[in-house]
Amino acid sequence: MVKHCELLIKNVRIASMQDNNRPYGSIENAMLAISDGVIEYVGENSQTFTGDQCYDGQNSWMLPGLIDCHTHLIYGGNRATEFEKRLQGLSYTEIAQQGGGIQSTVNATRKASKAQLLASAIKRAARLLEEGVTCIEIKSGYGLDLDTEIKMLEIARELEQQLPVNIIATYLGAHTVPAEYKDKPDDYVTFICQQVIPEIARRKLAVAVDVFCESIGFSPQQCERVFIAAKQHGLGIKAHVEQLSDLKGAKLAADFGAWSVDHIEYLEPSDVAALKDAGTVAVLLPGAFYFLNETKKPPVAALREHKVPMAVATDLNPGSSPLASLLTAMNMASVFFGLTPEEALRGTTVNAARALGLTNKGKIEQGMDADLCLWDIEHPSELVYGINHNRPSAIWLRGQHV
Ligand code: NIG
Ligand code: FE
Repeated sequence: MVKHCELLIKNVRIASMQDNNRPYGSIENAMLAISDGVIEYVGENSQTFTGDQCYDGQNSWMLPGLIDCHTHLIYGGNRATEFEKRLQGLSYTEIAQQGGGIQSTVNATRKASKAQLLASAIKRAARLLEEGVTCIEIKSGYGLDLDTEIKMLEIARELEQQLPVNIIATYLGAHTVPAEYKDKPDDYVTFICQQVIPEIARRKLAVAVDVFCESIGFSPQQCERVFIAAKQHGLGIKAHVEQLSDLKGAKLAADFGAWSVDHIEYLEPSDVAALKDAGTVAVLLPGAFYFLNETKKPPVAALREHKVPMAVATDLNPGSSPLASLLTAMNMASVFFGLTPEEALRGTTVNAARALGLTNKGKIEQGMDADLCLWDIEHPSELVYGINHNRPSAIWLRGQHV
């Protein structure tokens, strides 16, 4: 029996990212049938489908749309002058302790109008989209007061109206202690838990919370309070942990069933088992590792040994990772951390989806959203190997050609 679908894509090689015991979950001589934005069939070319529209992939490689699962791309100003200071010998931590760092971006973000913030965010997001990114996580955390955090999260929502992309918004109130709570960090955490989280949850402005668990951020005890409030309000949990030192934040976050723990250069291999048990994704951020001249590497061997899913993201932000290229982040993850190209690509598709609590994206499989990119390459590893070489030849977002 011949079935009908809205869009038929024929003659492609598919790197499905399924677990089908083939590298990249690949399927040769393949086709896709798509209806209502969802993949109805994926498998070998066959005559059993007709489509309203038909696209000939000419044997190019089809991959899931890429997912950048950790960014801070909405912000005011930039930190180029701090970059100059760092080159003169000041460290990221010293600059933060002197009132620069995240605090300086908070000042600039509070001052900026919504229109200014939106315009600059569109430019940065557009860089990611050019490279085949179809889903971006964006954190707040440069407002800190209620109004500016809400302004940031509303801009995240607006971006989705303005660009062909899915946005996942995360509330990062526990990013740094704002000036108005100087020397009263616990009171600021109370404000986060009692005022901001309930309001954000009520207005559905974010799906998760994040924290910066670090000596220049928040203590594990303070982060724990944020996690408890997040759970009470049905929000997912993500955490910046073990970026500059080992405060055992990853283990704490895993105990709360975190979707992901991010950075983790200082995570002890012996603490990795806790991530596996909790189903937490390890998000590697090689852009920040590179830009801060870090030398300590995340425990990739232990993550592999315990089969903890690894994701890769840009961490696009003005202070530690001004990197608007997910393909470059994948290349860095391979060069610096030794990820195989397949691990890097699973890290920006199937495992990135998991780091965002998404069950309908990141794989080319029946029932998944038809977020797809076609690449004119001979092998998927080329996407990780080349630096500023590759752009998709076609992109579909929920089955719509963009
Ligand atoms: O992921 N670690 C904390 N947050 C960001 C940096 C933010 C900033 O420096 O503006 C990060 O590295
Ligand atoms: Fe970050």
